[in-house]
Amino acid sequence: MVETVTLSNGHTMPTLGLGVYMNEECAEACKVAIQNGYRMIDGARYYENEVQVGVGVGNSGVKREDIFITSKVFHADYTYDGTMAALKDSVANLGSSYYDLYLTHSAIGGKDARLAAYKALLDGKASGMIKSVGVSNYSAKHIEEIREAGLEMPVVNQVELHPFCQQKPIVEYCTKNNIIVQAYSPLVRGAFDNPVIQELATKYSKAPAQILVRWSLQRGFVPLPKSSQPERIISNSQVFGWNIEPADMAKLDALDRGKEGAITWNPVDVD
Ligand SMILES: NC(=O)c1ccc[n+]([C@@H]2O[C@H](COP(=O)([O-])OP(=O)(O)OC[C@H]3O[C@@H](n4cnc5c(N)ncnc54)[C@H](OP(=O)(O)O)[C@@H]3O)[C@@H](O)[C@H]2O)c1
Repeated sequence: MVETVTLSNGHTMPTLGLGVYMNEECAEACKVAIQNGYRMIDGARYYENEVQVGVGVGNSGVKREDIFITSKVFHADYTYDGTMAALKDSVANLGSSYYDLYLTHSAIGGKDARLAAYKALLDGKASGMIKSVGVSNYSAKHIEEIREAGLEMPVVNQVELHPFCQQKPIVEYCTKNNIIVQAYSPLVRGAFDNPVIQELATKYSKAPAQILVRWSLQRGFVPLPKSSQPERIISNSQVFGWNIEPADMAKLDALDRGKEGAITWNPVDVD
């Protein structure tokens, strides 16, 4: 199942990951996911389960270096020292010497705080605690601040992204700047009752969740579906080796409601 994408810094990243938000006891989910082909886990300090991610990876039987692990620093820690301390704590929690990807969790906090946190992550990369640095919930204007400060650009921007909230301006900016877009809440948190999604699930004999993950992959995003249930974890990854036809992709594309379609905090417009 593992397909990868090459980031702008040359590292490779799987094109599908397991989300672990709202799953404090996620060790079992991580283990099941990895044993069934997942190679990426999307965590965060805010989820309070970095230790559990490390346990699940350790129990999976797959080598650490073959798994791509992400965490994120929350805006409450956006000073240089606060972020550096958070990162060191994350690394200790994981029980591994490094993260493959570490993100600033959102743009909340103002420009100075954002840049201070970002610089700490770049220094964490220089000292080997992180392989790649990225951002989450950033609009183009927030990423342009990084460029204007003369800092290395992020390799990933993780945003809420599904057919109802397609984040077109952010996606367009990231594509132009060689920043890979990770799609969070790609299953619309289980709100599948839309007739188009139901129609396509029937047509392709797939679960609605699989239609949503497949749409994300075909649009070039890196979806991070969350489940705590083994059978769903497995089903959500059975999204390779088949395609949604262009006319049906267009039907899903037509569901976009812009920011109105967001179902999470989606704090991409903060100053
Ligand atoms: N950067 C950010 O600010 C941010 C924000 C939100 C999320 N994220 C990341 O993105 C990940 C995914 O987003 P999310 O957790 O918000 O939502 P999601 O993946 O869109 O949906 C998760 C919900 O869908 C249910 N579900 C999963 N598979 C299903 C299936 N096959 N059939 C029916 N229901 C299913 C899950 O329940 P069960 O667990 O019971 O299966 C859960 O309630 C998070 O875990 C996190 O890693 C990041």
